[in-house]
Amino acid sequence: MLDTANWIMPIKDYGDVCPAYGRLFVASDDIEKATLEITALGVYEALLNGERVGEFIMAPGWTSYQNRIQVQTYDITGMIKKVNRLEVTVAPGWYHSPLYERGGTSDQDRLMSQPKALIAKLTVSYKNGSAETVVTDRSWGVCPSRICFSEIYDGEIYDARLSQLYTDEVEIYTGKVGKLIPTEGEIIKKHETFEVRDIITTPKGETVLDFGQEITGYIETTVYAKAGDIIDLSFAEILDKDGNFYNDNYRSIKGQYRYICRDGMQIFEPKHTFWCFRYVRVNVFRDDLNQIKKSNFKAVCVYSDIRRTAHMESSSPLLNRFIDNVFWGQKDNFIDVPLDCPQRNERLGWTGDALAFIKAACINFDVERFFVKWFRDMTLDQNTDGSIPGVIPNVRRCGRISAGYADVAVIGPWEVYKAYGNRMILEEQFECMKKWIGYISNTTKDEYLWTGGTHYGDWLGLDAPEGTKKGASRDDFIASAYYAYSTSVFVKVGETLGRDMTEYRDLFEKIRTRFRETFRTLTTQTECVIAAAFDLWPAPRAAADQLAEMIHSCGDHLMTGFIGTPYILHVLSRYGYIDLAWDLMLREKCPSWLYPVKNGATTVWEHWDGIKEDGSLWDSEMNSFNHYSYGSVIDWLYKVACGIGTDDRYPGYGRIIVEPHPTDRLNYLKTEIETRNGKVSSSWEKTGSGWKYVIEVPVDSDIIINGRTHSVSTGSYTFFE
Ligand code: BGC
Repeated sequence: MLDTANWIMPIKDYGDVCPAYGRLFVASDDIEKATLEITALGVYEALLNGERVGEFIMAPGWTSYQNRIQVQTYDITGMIKKVNRLEVTVAPGWYHSPLYERGGTSDQDRLMSQPKALIAKLTVSYKNGSAETVVTDRSWGVCPSRICFSEIYDGEIYDARLSQLYTDEVEIYTGKVGKLIPTEGEIIKKHETFEVRDIITTPKGETVLDFGQEITGYIETTVYAKAGDIIDLSFAEILDKDGNFYNDNYRSIKGQYRYICRDGMQIFEPKHTFWCFRYVRVNVFRDDLNQIKKSNFKAVCVYSDIRRTAHMESSSPLLNRFIDNVFWGQKDNFIDVPLDCPQRNERLGWTGDALAFIKAACINFDVERFFVKWFRDMTLDQNTDGSIPGVIPNVRRCGRISAGYADVAVIGPWEVYKAYGNRMILEEQFECMKKWIGYISNTTKDEYLWTGGTHYGDWLGLDAPEGTKKGASRDDFIASAYYAYSTSVFVKVGETLGRDMTEYRDLFEKIRTRFRETFRTLTTQTECVIAAAFDLWPAPRAAADQLAEMIHSCGDHLMTGFIGTPYILHVLSRYGYIDLAWDLMLREKCPSWLYPVKNGATTVWEHWDGIKEDGSLWDSEMNSFNHYSYGSVIDWLYKVACGIGTDDRYPGYGRIIVEPHPTDRLNYLKTEIETRNGKVSSSWEKTGSGWKYVIEVPVDSDIIINGRTHSVSTGSYTFFE
């Protein structure tokens, strides 16, 4: 791509200031079409004749940059004039950011030391069949832009008084860069906006805006000002128990936004960064904080352009708010890469978090393209020994190769395939999956188990020893269970593709046998959960019985972390504990899914007890209020509570098995999922004497009500029980 264009960079070093590249060109009349192909080492914004080109915020997005960089192609036909001014600012973005624990590898060091370079090609085609191109070369000018500082973690400083005259020369950059590829993912763009709900003066006397919803994005400010006036903002997810602005949990990041005004009326927003916040502290507002009006500020949500495909509503306002929070958790964290959290100095594509949430993610939104792109980066970032790094794109110099994290390499594509039915994903990822399983087989200390590894374990399980974050479940147990499970999924992948999987079928049997010989007891809730969920325990029902007992004996609540939580309700309901599953789902005391909601959460928390019952907070080093992992339970609400199940043999909802499981504790629950085969909906509501079910299916399906199967074709069906 962009074959005739060159990478250009400023001849001078601008330090923290982002370069602005510029080029004038003249076009003739009779234009048929004009396009701009463009990308940068960093993130860019292109303006043509003062107007923004395209909607992609933080373009070109985030890939495994040393391997590949996305190129955007914009149709700019309607924007071309006779004399045209093309201006492009390039900021560090992810490319140059000192991302969490980044650096140390030659690739990462190289990326960070490269210039904020630009490459572009503008093509104008005329009706007479001729065409003209403008490519990045020495004819461009460059200058320090108005963006004095910009960075993913530390925010942005913009000086609107400065002029950009493009009088410096550019030079051609010839260093090694990743392959240029067309855009694969969903573009990051603006979505919802929020007005200021309240302007608060905190006990400390600070002025804080409350937007009522935690979002990822930024603030649009509208202000009449004189040159040199300053607007300076800081961001936070919560107020502390005294009602003061609190963002210690953002850890080392500055996360600040400072805008220095020009004269007159102006509307502005940051260019190349984002924050996660519900609250905004106004540190400086021109010279008088008392002048602030709600209308000066608007919060703008920014996330990947994924399409919502599901809706769910119940008779419980608390449950409904939880469901909303799960959707917000996904929107706020799907920023081209599935992030662990969007606020503190991480915002990374943690594999374990994505694995926990992927089934839910695929129902809530259409995320096929989003994940296909990420899986391709995973393949490229896979180590030569087959291991999968903890984060993708892999930017960390250290980290564990962990079970329940790296296994997303196998389970992730399989789940995306099941949701959307596209075999190409399995074809593409097959080798990566195979290498991952090979890595385990080659590195384990004991054949047919995975022992001796260093893992994140049942991350944040409540049975973690005091002061630690890893739940009490045994590493070797979890790792061996995932070794078995990933192998069993790999067998299904291979069978789907028509490959001979005898070797892996045998491997699975051997792992399961060794697993059963080795682990004869279950010591935690999570061990019970995965032993049953992955079909490893000789009598899965016994594992579920023990799980139920453990839940009762600790005070009727779960203790699970990232590994056990996505499956716990599935295991309970599958083995006869549907009431207990509902008890956990609807529990309001800590720990539970609804406890944060009762405490005002508008997203899903990282910890069950991020804000404790006495109002105190978890350690600021590790306390995000926007981690989607525990939102994975919405998968159970869809599949078991509403009962919309799938059949692996008919991916993409080619055949549906609807078996709802109502609870007396709700008057109704209804859901609707837009599948690749059409809309499926399931609802139940209390009647005087029992339940009324209304189920609509777009394909031949089985509807199971109270144990009785009704085989139906496309249509809407009502049952009374
Ligand atoms: C992230 C987690 C992640 C973990 C690995 C954390 O810092 O926020 O969500 O899974 O590291 O243990």
